[in-house]
Amino acid sequence: MTKRRDFLQSLGMMGISLPVLHKILNRDSSYVPTTAASPLVMCSRGESWGKKVLEPAWAKFKETNSILDAIEAGSNVVELDPEDTSVGYGGLPDERGVVSLDASIMYGPTYNCGSVASLENIKKACSVARLVMERTDHSMIVGAGALAFAKAHGFPEENLLTENARLTWLEWKENLSDNDDWLPPPDGDYKKFRKGGTINVLGMGSEGDVAGITTTSGLFGKIHGRIGDSPIIGAGLFVDNEVGAAGATGRGEELIRTCGSFLLVEKMRAGKSPQIACEEVIERIFYVNGGKKNVNFNVKMVAFNKDGDAGSASIMPLGDNASASVITAQGMRLIPGKSMM
Ligand code: GLY
Repeated sequence: MTKRRDFLQSLGMMGISLPVLHKILNRDSSYVPTTAASPLVMCSRGESWGKKVLEPAWAKFKETNSILDAIEAGSNVVELDPEDTSVGYGGLPDERGVVSLDASIMYGPTYNCGSVASLENIKKACSVARLVMERTDHSMIVGAGALAFAKAHGFPEENLLTENARLTWLEWKENLSDNDDWLPPPDGDYKKFRKGGTINVLGMGSEGDVAGITTTSGLFGKIHGRIGDSPIIGAGLFVDNEVGAAGATGRGEELIRTCGSFLLVEKMRAGKSPQIACEEVIERIFYVNGGKKNVNFNVKMVAFNKDGDAGSASIMPLGDNASASVITAQGMRLIPGKSMM
């Protein structure tokens, strides 16, 4: 016992805390601890969307000093933007041509969480998820129940299918099979649209309080009722107030079967840097796919830890969408994403 105390005392004199010793023993050579944790908001997208999301999120944080308000404000920007085809209004629909949304929120200080799934006709799915967390004794509400719950809280019911999303769906529907009665136009003249991706907005407040949101319209053309990883705590989102926050985008089925975001946070708890932890979750996805790296789907993991270090990794190269972004009092910085394929 005395030896252990002496050992801990000598580590302290060298400025090495137990978590840092753990990182060293885990041979995580990329880990360079920063000195002081300070408030931040992280977005799973890079420069242009990052700016669109993080600036209003940061403004909200400065106004309210609430990290939950901040990440909700940032997520709402994408949910309300018809240009983004994978989140909220403007999201691509399911096989019936109906947009249905999945979203989750988690708050580190209480380890409380809320989510909605298969939510139709409501734009701000993450705000409904927050109400599930704060105004019910449940964690998850789905389908017609989620819509009724949202309406009970005054959310307006609106059609989420934009003209762009309808035409994209129609092209998909008419070209799905030669054995059905849907025929494409003779000239095949469909309008082509930019595709987006689910979004994670994670944050840490002034007291080191960690929180996160994941929000999406899910897989384009999904079977009615299919739920992805985004509303499932541990799959599309996980935060731990002692450790940090993690979020996922991409093929939800893979994230559900690997508990991707929970796994990532646990890797950080074990001393891995956010970057290494992101890469190791992608490796785990290769492992459950028989060790194959040439999978035909993509997943992107993002995370930060309580030191304010952040990481990002994906299966396939994502071009402009490879990076993630972080905003602090010092301004915005990009987190370059590593492709693991
Ligand atoms: N990651 C979003 C989904 O699979 O639905």
